[in-house]
Amino acid sequence: MPEKLKILIFPDPRLRKVAKKVTKFDKSLKKLAEAMLHTMYDANGIGLAATQVDRHLRLIVMDLSENKDDPRVFINPTYKILDNHSLYEFEEGCLSIPGFNELISRPDKIDLKWQDLDGNEHNDKPEGLLTVCIQHEIDHLNGKLFIDYLGAIKRQMITRKMQKYKREIARGKAE
Ligand code: NI
Repeated sequence: MPEKLKILIFPDPRLRKVAKKVTKFDKSLKKLAEAMLHTMYDANGIGLAATQVDRHLRLIVMDLSENKDDPRVFINPTYKILDNHSLYEFEEGCLSIPGFNELISRPDKIDLKWQDLDGNEHNDKPEGLLTVCIQHEIDHLNGKLFIDYLGAIKRQMITRKMQKYKREIARGKAE
């Protein structure tokens, strides 16, 4: 059984770190990807960036399938926006900000490049959910969160509620 990792909860300064490019495609990278997939499935998530488990490497795992049987790994992903006017609106959530979902618009025509666990390079023009999810996860690698796209008032409200939530968790653990 792969290891279950601890997911960082917002607000946490470690979620703002910029991840480093993966240069070693070794066994430990495969082990980390497996542990991240296990952690993501366990938390009922559809995507997880290494930043969220306090590993600051450019590594993302994802499964957008209905039956949760299509695990995908993206290493060193980058994308180019092909059309700034073609947007896809999706109610985004995040395992690091549990309990909050907000409509976010993102470009839906992108040219995506990434590497697999063996270092092989891939290129695709994704459609639909993958397009917005990969942008959400790449944001994590750059220290950015989906709430950064919201207005200041909404963002502050979520921040306050998350601070309260974390205080309650800490208190629960102390008792
Ligand atoms: Ni997220």
